Amino acid sequence: MKVVAIVGSIRKESYNLKLAKYIQERYKDRFDLEILSVRELPHYDQDIEMNPSEAVTAFKGKVAAADAVLWITPEYNYSIPGVLKNAIDWLSRVEKVLIGKPSWIMGATMGTLGTVRAQQHLRDILFCPGVGASLLPGNEVYIGAVHEKMDEAGKITHEPTVKFLDLVVDNFIKWFEQQQSLSK
Ligand SMILES: Cc1cc2nc3c(=O)[nH]c(=O)nc-3n(C[C@H](O)[C@H](O)[C@H](O)COP(=O)(O)O)c2cc1C
Repeated sequence: MKVVAIVGSIRKESYNLKLAKYIQERYKDRFDLEILSVRELPHYDQDIEMNPSEAVTAFKGKVAAADAVLWITPEYNYSIPGVLKNAIDWLSRVEKVLIGKPSWIMGATMGTLGTVRAQQHLRDILFCPGVGASLLPGNEVYIGAVHEKMDEAGKITHEPTVKFLDLVVDNFIKWFEQQQSLSK
């Protein structure tokens, strides 16, 4: 299974990027995870949506070709970061590459609530008609106090969090396979 991770932070030492890399390594025998960068995407602009830059075309192509999308986001001001919303806006126009795309969500923050408000907004956005992603029910991954659960290299040192991620990965794969067999 080919999964792309779309990470809502573009900073170099991002905990959410480190989480994506941790998942890529830990579950490499379960699925192939490619981490996409939203840094190169220009601001969404309806004037150029029919003739977007190469960065947009390449990004959309990778999402379209993937079997599933893993969204990994921090929380900014009780919502998702603008860079992530911008990426979704591009994905939601002209070729609507997220429609029906199996998706799951995770998020990490240093605060205690672990991105619960950002993820609530993200779920609403993914439900919009132009977006229309197919979301894994339940299995909500809110990693609060991430700086106490991850070392500098990005390894998760908090065993209950690792166990929970193992469970969510199992559940995602089961759900994905069920969706595939239903659509045959
Ligand atoms: C502009 C801005 C707004 C933020 N707002 C929130 C917030 O609403 N809730 C929260 O838990 N953390 C908030 N934070 C803290 C981020 O969750 C924290 O910086 C986190 O490490 C960012 O994710 P990253 O490490 O992947 O870049 C905010 C940070 C920034 C820069």
